[in-house]
Amino acid sequence: MTLAANASVVPVPPTDCLRLGVLASGRGTNLQALLDRTAAHQVPAQVVAVVSNRRDALALERAQHAEVPAAVFARADFSSRPEQERAIVEFLREQQVDLVVLAGYVPVIGPTLLDAYRHRIVNIHPSLLPAFGGTLHAQADALHHGVKVTGCTVHFVTTDVDGGPIVLQRTVPVLENDTEESLAARILVEEHAALPEAIRLIAAGRVQIVGHRTRILPAG
Ligand code: GRF
Repeated sequence: MTLAANASVVPVPPTDCLRLGVLASGRGTNLQALLDRTAAHQVPAQVVAVVSNRRDALALERAQHAEVPAAVFARADFSSRPEQERAIVEFLREQQVDLVVLAGYVPVIGPTLLDAYRHRIVNIHPSLLPAFGGTLHAQADALHHGVKVTGCTVHFVTTDVDGGPIVLQRTVPVLENDTEESLAARILVEEHAALPEAIRLIAAGRVQIVGHRTRILPAG
């Protein structure tokens, strides 16, 4: 699902209110960062739908508190993964979602959702991709590998897990006495800035996907 090397796409036309559908499986601090920044008008977007595959996801409580429509689509409630994704797509379309944001959503996205929101799904990953991709333990892996710098990446989602075109990255140092927890916390601070910033750029029409890369167009 990558573009030919010289083909280019601007995922959404420039808008002053990009409608976001956030998918989250867990505590939802990235969702909260988006709720806070959009409410403060720091990002020209609105979270209009929250989806989880887990009933116990704290992200659902955050959505409820912010009065955002939220729904659970647990894999066990559907006969197949495509059925589950069809239901998710229907919900996202009902809420007129423009851009899907994976914010700690654990299942790998399949063709049903990918095709419905082609070039319009982004993910946040807690490493400098392509390092430590395709894992839920990117921070521990960075520590064990002994890298001196790591960070987070916002990228478009394709069939290549954690391998789609990168929108932006933010770095953090790895400190001598870091634990997995301390490193993850330092990265998370940057995630909470990176995701809103990427969405701000996308809403402004400044992110152009060119083949496997993105170009960030100048403002205006
Ligand atoms: C983040 O570290 C994100 O990069 C990864 O999952 C984690 C989600 O954290 N994909 P939260 O649920 O947003 O707090």
